[in-house]
Amino acid sequence: PIFPVILSGGAGTRLWPQSRQAYPKQFLSLTSGQTLLQQTAERLFAVASTPPLVICNEVHRFIVAEQLRTLPAGSAEIILEPVGRNTAPAITLAALAATKDGADPIVVISPADHVVMNSQAFEVVTGQAVSLAEDGFVVTFGVTPDRPETGYGYIKPGEQINGSPGHRIAHFVEKPNADRAAVMLSQGGFLWNSGLFVFKASVLLSELEHLAPEILAACRLALDGAERDLDFLRLASEPFTACPAGSFDVLVMEQTGKGAVVELDAGWTDIGSWDALWQLLDKDADGNAGRGDVIALESKNSLVWSEKSLLAVFGVENLIVVESDDSILVADRGRAQEIRKVVARLDAEG
Ligand code: GDD
Ligand code: MG
Repeated sequence: PIFPVILSGGAGTRLWPQSRQAYPKQFLSLTSGQTLLQQTAERLFAVASTPPLVICNEVHRFIVAEQLRTLPAGSAEIILEPVGRNTAPAITLAALAATKDGADPIVVISPADHVVMNSQAFEVVTGQAVSLAEDGFVVTFGVTPDRPETGYGYIKPGEQINGSPGHRIAHFVEKPNADRAAVMLSQGGFLWNSGLFVFKASVLLSELEHLAPEILAACRLALDGAERDLDFLRLASEPFTACPAGSFDVLVMEQTGKGAVVELDAGWTDIGSWDALWQLLDKDADGNAGRGDVIALESKNSLVWSEKSLLAVFGVENLIVVESDDSILVADRGRAQEIRKVVARLDAEG
């Protein structure tokens, strides 16, 4: 059986002012009527035929419950973290929860905040990943890179695995600096890590025994002491707060000898910025895209996004203009990645 899991703990500051700590991007509907979390739940339901476990922060519990309540997929369980400890503890919790009743399913971990345009291709590749996981591999989904992005993990596929389209992972490099990313891109043969992971629960737990024993121990305590509250499973606060933070990519994928990669060519993007969203959306003849009550006149290649007001741009190019409840952003589309600087400035000012 397959045990689907959605990680929904991130904050996503580059889509400010729409995405913010209280309302990160997985809860927004950016590309369709459904939110990214809802699309993720449906995508996983199509491959697993069973509702997902969702792991999120305490403060987002009602948003998560409300967004999944109306879906056929629904949710099997919502585990609440008192604090964020990054993906290594969250994925450890998933593996522990999967083995709760002595079961040993194939766990499929998905981020909550990505877009996959071609769900059929996604299903096929997930099937390939599941069979590799049954053979004991910790499987990632690799995407062909098109720029020296520093916000991703890079995977160098090694030898092909017998009777499978998958490859062993020769190298895994999480978030390289700009120089290293440029070198890997020009060398060729590297794939981006898409952030999905597939493994047999017992295989991962035995890897964690030696790669992240403290995290494993803390997560065991946090789950053993968890308390049910309505539809939520609230982790024991003390052991989880004491759990070391760490990313799964660094602690497990860079270290394990059991890594494998399958290639995902399914229109994947993590919508890391307003520019990435602009790339994805349908555009008018002048390359403008938008949402809401907007006009773009004698303007080009801009994103014009309005929540409430009538928003007009005239005679501009390559801009991002976003109006939300209480804030307005006007930015150069070419510098969309740096919008997090605005958030940092706001945080600094309290
Ligand atoms: N429950 C929980 N708790 N979820 C978390 C936490 C946490 O503390 N921290 C992050 N997440 C969730 C995020 O909501 C997201 O869905 C997923 O885990 C990945 O975390 P990110 O913080 O978005 O990671 P990243 O984007 O920097 O890097 C990862 O994704 C890239 C692709 O988008 C890595 O896996 C990279 O290697 C990869 O290229
Ligand atoms: Mg991310």
